[in-house]
Amino acid sequence: MRVVQLTDTHLCHSRGGKLLGVDTDRSLQAVIDLVKSERPAVDLLLATGDLSDQGAPDAYVRLQAYFDQLTPNHFWLPGNHDDRAAMTDNAAHPLRLVRELRVGHWQVVMLDSQVPGEVGGELGRDELRMLEQALSAAAEQQLFSLVCLHHQPVAIGCDWLDEQMVADADAFFALLERFPRVRGVLWGHVHQQVDRYRGGIRLLASPSTCVQFAPGSEDFKADASPPGYRWLELQPDGGLDTGVSRVRDVTFDVDLDSGGYL
Ligand SMILES: [Fe+2]
Repeated sequence: MRVVQLTDTHLCHSRGGKLLGVDTDRSLQAVIDLVKSERPAVDLLLATGDLSDQGAPDAYVRLQAYFDQLTPNHFWLPGNHDDRAAMTDNAAHPLRLVRELRVGHWQVVMLDSQVPGEVGGELGRDELRMLEQALSAAAEQQLFSLVCLHHQPVAIGCDWLDEQMVADADAFFALLERFPRVRGVLWGHVHQQVDRYRGGIRLLASPSTCVQFAPGSEDFKADASPPGYRWLELQPDGGLDTGVSRVRDVTFDVDLDSGGYL
């Protein structure tokens, strides 16, 4: 199963809108061109939130056309910048915001960690119950699971971002630990790469398709690393291979002096 994750596309109200000086339509197209050149076949595209910068309906219409360049099989979950109603209303296919996918030997769960009006994330009782039911059903069928969400469920070492991590992360991991076939947790939000383990579970965060945040920063700090994406290969035996690739031949002028973007 050849999977691509694109995250934090931050498309603006209209084409050419900028985030910290970066035209987010242009940077997304550059990343899509990179995926096309490196991955001739994509089975599944997972989009892990902040797909629009301010929940603008037209952003979701454009997003659809961008993702369709890679595969018709793209699935979305909301981030703190998204508008859930606008996402649903503008998704041309009713399954775009589906909560659970089953493909071959794998299950992919798409969680919603958005708290409307807040920057930080939380899953909440209903979302955790949905996750438990999904993982139980997958365990019965001996499927391996990849769990996706927007906010980070672990501290990543940027103080300003870690204030926004999933508030009920302890309950989230207590649940995952009951299901040994969970192989990975994949998120966005932090605009930087993370790849580590918690027990047998691989914890993965990925660069944004537009602006990146500086690792290890106490306060808000963007950096000049290029936009990129994560690829994942989900093997029939539960193996998970993954890596990150970044745009090399297009330059973007990031406004590094900005005091923030939230
Ligand atoms: Fe973001």
